[in-house]
Amino acid sequence: MNAQVTTPSAMLFSPFQLRGVTFPNRIVIAPMQMYMTGPDGLMTDWHFQHLAKYAVGGAGTVMTEALIVDPIGRNTYGDAGIWSDDHIGPLARVAEFLSRHGAVPAAQLHHAGPKSSRQRPWEGLGPLGEAEAARGEAPWQPVSSSASRTIAGWHQPRAMSTDEIKRLVEAYGEGAKRVHRAGYDVLDVHAAHGYLLHSFLSPVANTRTDEYGGDIAGRMRIALEIAESIRAHWPADKPLLFRLSCVDWRKDLDDRTDGWTIEDSFVLSRELNKRGVDMIDCSSGGIRAENSLMDYAKKRQKLTRGFQVPHAEAIRRETGIPTMAVGVILDGPQAEAILQKGQADLIAIGREALTDPHWGLHAAQALGIDPDWRQWPPSYGWWLELRERIGIAD
Ligand SMILES: Cc1cc2nc3c(=O)[nH]c(=O)nc-3n(C[C@H](O)[C@H](O)[C@H](O)COP(=O)(O)O)c2cc1C
Repeated sequence: MNAQVTTPSAMLFSPFQLRGVTFPNRIVIAPMQMYMTGPDGLMTDWHFQHLAKYAVGGAGTVMTEALIVDPIGRNTYGDAGIWSDDHIGPLARVAEFLSRHGAVPAAQLHHAGPKSSRQRPWEGLGPLGEAEAARGEAPWQPVSSSASRTIAGWHQPRAMSTDEIKRLVEAYGEGAKRVHRAGYDVLDVHAAHGYLLHSFLSPVANTRTDEYGGDIAGRMRIALEIAESIRAHWPADKPLLFRLSCVDWRKDLDDRTDGWTIEDSFVLSRELNKRGVDMIDCSSGGIRAENSLMDYAKKRQKLTRGFQVPHAEAIRRETGIPTMAVGVILDGPQAEAILQKGQADLIAIGREALTDPHWGLHAAQALGIDPDWRQWPPSYGWWLELRERIGIAD
């Protein structure tokens, strides 16, 4: 009798197509700001090694950290920029390496809005003050949808004028053009986590009475204009993603009814999709101090595996638009289950990739599809396979 030989396979390692781009597998390295540039916003060797290693480590797509479209929208003096042509060179060096090693180069555009002018996380994450000014990092007044603080103790922002909004919409288009020139194939717009675009979307922050405030149509207007501006500059064969805080949360993770809701995300996703946005990158929260990581740490509240996956699932189901899931997705089997259940199309990995740059290669082994280390770079895999075959005695 012939034994049936089955080749193990996994959705996580199947390709995915959006427009003219084939994602070689479903693993995306999530955007992660390093706060490691100088005030010029130019990426350095630090950023190169940070991103390059993930292409070697099996991620199909590697996304840059948030790139700032206008210097007033920097979180910190260490943010990477895309506000000038000078930024293109170092970004191109990264993209070239990623492509050469089989990963799709992706980038994220960003403006921190009311969360601008702050200390790097490891310096306290608070607003810049006198101590920072004394060492050359003077605070500046952030801009936001409205002139109100969403988080007590932070700088008081001022509301953007309509002229400033128009210029910002153009700046996103210019940023997209530069990212394309730098060789990136996928673009994500950061509209989550309490930053500028989220401050327009959410009624928690947006108290404007002009055409950029009021009902959901007004609050969405800037995001939709930015999608149009980007699409005017970003090639038609390259995918465009938007990262949303799909819900604002309130006092606890079960209350999804206050502020921006999942139903609002359905409406926005459909409108973005009509304007050429191909995928929703599904995050949550950030507009209030409650439910921030600092708040979790204070309250000793634990994180929950895959806690944002239900948002990716709901948007995908309700709108038919592809989604990317992110947030405490820790290993290959968890990622595979999300895909198998139809909850998302791509899986973004953040902090777990910081602990394991070879996350993708380890996921393939955990799912049984790379038993003999063939997916590893041969200069690593040859040795590791041999060591495993020989075995190690205690
Ligand atoms: C060091 C670090 C920097 C981050 N920077 C960004 C960023 O630039 N843009 C963004 O949208 N999210 C940023 N995030 C959030 C991550 O993209 C991700 O959504 C979050 O960490 C949850 O995923 P995880 O549990 O896999 O880490 C950052 C997270 C970390 C840990």
